[in-house]
Amino acid sequence: MTSSPTTHDLAVDAVDGMEQVSGTHPGYRRAHARGVCFDATFTPTGAAAELTTAAHLQQEPVPATVRFSNSEGNPHSPDGRRSGRGIAVKFHLGHGVDTDLVAVNLPVFVVSTPEHFVKLLGALKKDPHTGQNDPALLGAYIKDNPEAIPGFTAAGAMPIPVSYGTAKYWAIHAFRWTNAAGESRYVRYRWEPAAGLQELSPEDAGHQTPEYLTDELTQRLLDGPVRFTLHVQLGEDGDPTNDCTKAWPAERTEIAVGHLDITATSADQEHWAGQVFDPTRVTPGIDLSDDPVLAFRTRAYAESFARRSHGG
Ligand code: HEM
Repeated sequence: MTSSPTTHDLAVDAVDGMEQVSGTHPGYRRAHARGVCFDATFTPTGAAAELTTAAHLQQEPVPATVRFSNSEGNPHSPDGRRSGRGIAVKFHLGHGVDTDLVAVNLPVFVVSTPEHFVKLLGALKKDPHTGQNDPALLGAYIKDNPEAIPGFTAAGAMPIPVSYGTAKYWAIHAFRWTNAAGESRYVRYRWEPAAGLQELSPEDAGHQTPEYLTDELTQRLLDGPVRFTLHVQLGEDGDPTNDCTKAWPAERTEIAVGHLDITATSADQEHWAGQVFDPTRVTPGIDLSDDPVLAFRTRAYAESFARRSHGG
């Protein structure tokens, strides 16, 4: 008799697969391994208050902690590569309660299910002799799974940012907002940098120091806070909520729901590096959508956390 894999087994498979692609780097996250944390304040505009009861989206500012990161599992990968960047925000709601919002510089993801994620990692596996992945395996994966094309196309065109503060970041999944009257609707989040989008040519990126993004942001903060605005796209009936490979139509109504002002490098980097920024840590007024990748992420993050916090 064969037993079907449980969600937990799949999370172990996913993190094993990530280690096969990036190597095992003890003590580090299995994705977005290198990052740096900053203190910030999030000030809501009030525009979301009639759509959700979420505490941080009403009127009062809340303190926040922001972790910028590079998507690679290898913490020694240099900043000047064309690769993913993350912004993970922990909003501190008071009384020890937090809610997290985790976003990357990609509008859609490359898989719509956890099973496909594990399959994709298999296609990205490195040959132990050459240290390279086999482009033919990846090509075959994409041919069999064309829903991956928009995500890979966007990844191939990712700008190499001048600064963590000059990139756009999407939280990708749909979430459900509910207001005081009990009315619900689906939304998707995007961070827009107040400094605008600014990118480096690959040649200029090649001349940067390996950790220029951290140094640049630290330097930029000497001139004052670095601001992002949180934009929310309002879904309409029929917009997919369970498939993070599909964008919603560009003409959907958007509202600007708050400003994030990053003020200083966090004093206790070790403490914040040791936390999990979990996209499923929502707060009353916000619920998860039926996206299976979103639900799965909490298990994979817990698996990565268990390994890294035990010295593995
Ligand atoms: C099957 C889907 C995914 C899996 C298995 C996965 C796995 C992981 C793992 C294992 C970590 C390290 C967690 C830790 O040790 O704390 C991580 C971090 C991260 N992931 Fe994912 N991920 C997935 C999808 C996504 C998506 C769709 C996004 C974009 C919204 C994303 C953005 C990030 C970011 C920004 C971090 C760093 C968070 C931090 O700074 O603590 N991931 N991911």
